[in-house]
Amino acid sequence: MKIGILSDLHVDLKNGIYEKILQGLVTAVKTKAIDVMIIAGDVANDYEVSLGFLRDVELKADIRCLFVPGNHDIWNEKHRDMTAWDTYQALKSFGGNLANGPVALSEDWTVIGDMGWYDYSFGSVDYTISDFDRMQIEGRLWQDKVKAVWDRPTIDMHQYFLSKLQKQLDANRHKNIILVTHVVPIVEFTVQPPNRLWRYLNAFLGSRQYGRMALDYSVNYSVSGHVHYRRRKTHGHTTFICNCLNYTSQWIDNNDPQKEVQRALKTIDIA
Ligand SMILES: [Fe+2]
Repeated sequence: MKIGILSDLHVDLKNGIYEKILQGLVTAVKTKAIDVMIIAGDVANDYEVSLGFLRDVELKADIRCLFVPGNHDIWNEKHRDMTAWDTYQALKSFGGNLANGPVALSEDWTVIGDMGWYDYSFGSVDYTISDFDRMQIEGRLWQDKVKAVWDRPTIDMHQYFLSKLQKQLDANRHKNIILVTHVVPIVEFTVQPPNRLWRYLNAFLGSRQYGRMALDYSVNYSVSGHVHYRRRKTHGHTTFICNCLNYTSQWIDNNDPQKEVQRALKTIDIA
C-alpha cells in the first residue's frame, strides 16, 4: 500500500491557487499510484475552506484522505466568535480527521494522530515560560496568540494532545504505527542554527516530548508539518518525515503548481 504525505498546503493565500493545488494533487495521486493520502495540517486559514478542500481531494482524486488539523486550520480570523476548541471540533466533521481516533489501514498498520501543540522545549533556555507565553519578540507577534485561543495555558494544551496520543499508542502497541502531528517532534526539524529571533520562535514549532513518545513506542513513521521543510531523519526504528508544500513564494518554481505538488508529495510503502 502506497501512502502519500503532504502538509502545509495553504490553499487560500493567493487568488486561484486553491484549484491549481487541488488539480496538482489529483494528478500527483494518480501518477504516483497513491492509495491513501495523509495531510499533516495547515490546509487553509479558515476551517470551512480546509474542510471543503479535504472533501474535494477525496472526491476528485477518488482516494481516502487522513488529516490532522494545523494551527492555521483552527485560526478564527474569519470567525471571530469561535474559540480554538470550536474550530478544532468543527474540523472533526471530516471523517478522515485523526482527531476522531486512530484509523486502521490493514490488520498490521494503524495511523494515529492529532495536531499536537508546543511546550516551548525547542526555544532557548535563556527565556522563561512567561517570556514564551507573550508570543512576541521585537514587535513580531506569533499569530496563534490571537488567532488560536484555547481555554487553558499553552503547556496544558500540549499535554492534552500528548496524553490523548499516548493512550491511543498504548491501545495499539502490537501494531505498526504511522504517528501524525502537525507540530514537529525533533530538533532537526526546527530552524537550525537559530538566529536571534529563532532562538525564541523555535519554541512555537513543537515539542521534544512528541519525539520521545515516537521513540518510546517505536513507531515506524512520525509525520509532521508546520515548519515548511521537506526532510527525513531516522532515529532508532523511527523515520521522521516533514513534508510541506509551503507558501507559493517558497516554491522552487512558483509558477507551476502541478510541478511543485509533484515535487513535494512524497510516499512511503507499507506491506
Ligand atoms: Fe503550522
